[in-house]
Amino acid sequence: LNYDVSRERRYILEVLFNGLRRLEYRGYDSAGISIDSSSVAGAVRSPSDPPLVFRQEGNIESLVKSVYQEVSATDLNLEESFSVHAGIAHTRWATHGEPAPRNSHPQSSGAENDFLVVHNGVITNYEVLKQSLLRHGYTFESETDTEVIPKLAKFVFDKANEGGDQTVTFSEVVLEVMRHLEGAYALIFKSRHYPNELIACKRGSPLLLGVKEFAEEQNNGTSYNEMNFISKNGHPKELFLSSDPHALVEHTKKVLVIEDSEVVDIKDGGVTILKFDNGKRKDGKSLSRPASVQRALSILEMEVEQISKGKYKYYMQKEIHEQPESLTTTMRGRLIRGGSSKRKSVLLGGLKDHLKTIRRSRRIVFIGCGTSYNAALAARPILEELCGIPVMMEIASDLLDRQAPVYRDDTTIFVSQSGETADTLNALEYALENGALCVGITNTVGSSVARNTHCGVHINAGSEIGVASTKAYTSQIVVMAMVALAIGADTISTKQRREGIIESLLNLPGKIREVLKLDEEMKELARSLISEQSLLMFGRGYNYATALEGALKVKEVALMHSEGILAGEMKHGPLALVDETLPIVVIATRDQCFSKQQSVIQQLKARKGRLIVMCTEGDAAAVCGGSCRVIEVPQVVDCLQPVVNIVPLQLLAYHLTVLRGYNVDQPRNLAKSVTTE
Ligand code: G6P
Repeated sequence: LNYDVSRERRYILEVLFNGLRRLEYRGYDSAGISIDSSSVAGAVRSPSDPPLVFRQEGNIESLVKSVYQEVSATDLNLEESFSVHAGIAHTRWATHGEPAPRNSHPQSSGAENDFLVVHNGVITNYEVLKQSLLRHGYTFESETDTEVIPKLAKFVFDKANEGGDQTVTFSEVVLEVMRHLEGAYALIFKSRHYPNELIACKRGSPLLLGVKEFAEEQNNGTSYNEMNFISKNGHPKELFLSSDPHALVEHTKKVLVIEDSEVVDIKDGGVTILKFDNGKRKDGKSLSRPASVQRALSILEMEVEQISKGKYKYYMQKEIHEQPESLTTTMRGRLIRGGSSKRKSVLLGGLKDHLKTIRRSRRIVFIGCGTSYNAALAARPILEELCGIPVMMEIASDLLDRQAPVYRDDTTIFVSQSGETADTLNALEYALENGALCVGITNTVGSSVARNTHCGVHINAGSEIGVASTKAYTSQIVVMAMVALAIGADTISTKQRREGIIESLLNLPGKIREVLKLDEEMKELARSLISEQSLLMFGRGYNYATALEGALKVKEVALMHSEGILAGEMKHGPLALVDETLPIVVIATRDQCFSKQQSVIQQLKARKGRLIVMCTEGDAAAVCGGSCRVIEVPQVVDCLQPVVNIVPLQLLAYHLTVLRGYNVDQPRNLAKSVTTE
């Protein structure tokens, strides 16, 4: 953030810490911060005042504690005020190098902190750059890919100033650095040579510029010059850069979405945005004079309440319990019931112009990672049934590893809560290169998936902050069921089936409210499983995905081994694991696979399996004759049953985690948004 309003150092630190707290769900193994060190209030800082840097292993609160300890030990004046101040901060999810202060960001060019960098993404050619910098006498302190960036900046700066006077501008230094970087990044640079200035740039990773002008309410916000952000009435302002809107929304909703190959130069409170393409300006002229960019501000559709825990203790808990509301929002305005014929239909604005092309495609290929992949798997059968088109499933990284064929007449559907998962984005680039129609299904407006696909549907589940995805999963399934209804809308033979599904969609939030009443029962079940090593989940048909997703929840948050197994494969291996001690969840709600699941239960019982059976309300006696533990759930139409069935398993994973003493919102080694390959 950059201020042109006089603020105390304490305020500056707190704004940066709060920003990090909002981003903590994206990474929490180490964190760092850099602030100015001027000893004279409001004075222009000189190179003799290198920025202060604090870095700490552990979560944000460890950083906060260490900064305040250092403040009291060194007499750093927190009440000191600045008329312009540029600070940067970062919370990390380790990719290169263990979580440790030396590997935390900001990464530095050397002891004097000539250049400091925070980085979101991964630099793929860092080894080559490192070797070259080593040859020039640079020494490296960390194992990160990021450290080459500030060192390269210093190299470029020193080279440009060999003659004596400092003539090279900060943005010229950064543009030159960018020319050498390969991979994905959003970067913010700070330098002691350029006081009161920050440079940010990006390629591949997201970056937002937030603009807050004080007193804009009094002026109806009209006196704003969008181009250079100089307020005409001279009101003071604050500028914020972040890779995620969650860090901005409590300060401002006015943002500018920075695009690839743009460089943002914030100097003395003013902003210039420069654009260059692959090392060249669009008009082919040299890099040092890129074109300046004009773009209107966007307004964030996010409320601060949405990103707070409300009455809940954890985000995951809140997000599980708000599913009746999130599903209602997902469907709002999209299900049409009425007219004289009482016709029921689906309207998906972001897809309607492409439905003809989709109906003519050779295949539909779902591509995603983690929970998003599981959601697509849950929706696959209804797409196959209503569209009559072969539906393939691809885990994004595996599609790329195999360089699997993708055709011009394929419809590829990219499913991603964040819209920023690196593997999914790489697969999207691959599908675009191969000429396929690319459809995005994401929760994040303005994300890379939303911007780079030809068309798509937002799931509108609201911000999901818990690292383990819950409400996004159920909204994704509902959106994909609506996509199936929209694609199949012209088929007369399935009209009744489609209308039944629409009716069931409308009743779904109420059914989720009912199934959430199992909370206490799931807590009891969790208590009985607390010291188990392993938990298997068997499902098939619509609920194969439920078994995979339930097991994923348990392993990722409760840190208990759990595996989702296709029940049809049971006799081809998994049966060997069955004994009287290993707990097994069998999903056996009513659908066309019900009788097959009953025989699975019989086979497991014959081997003395320790069963927990999920069945339709009133079916307890029918499924296991009262001899095993049951979870009874309300019935909905078969293709939406996975939306209901996952809820008790989410609750089970949540309670297991709390009872085992782990932090539900910060599962070990995981991050919400994985922006590296
Ligand atoms: C990470 C998260 C998962 C998520 C997956 C895909 O692994 O921890 O919860 O399912 O990424 O994320 P996306 O944002 O693409 O849905």
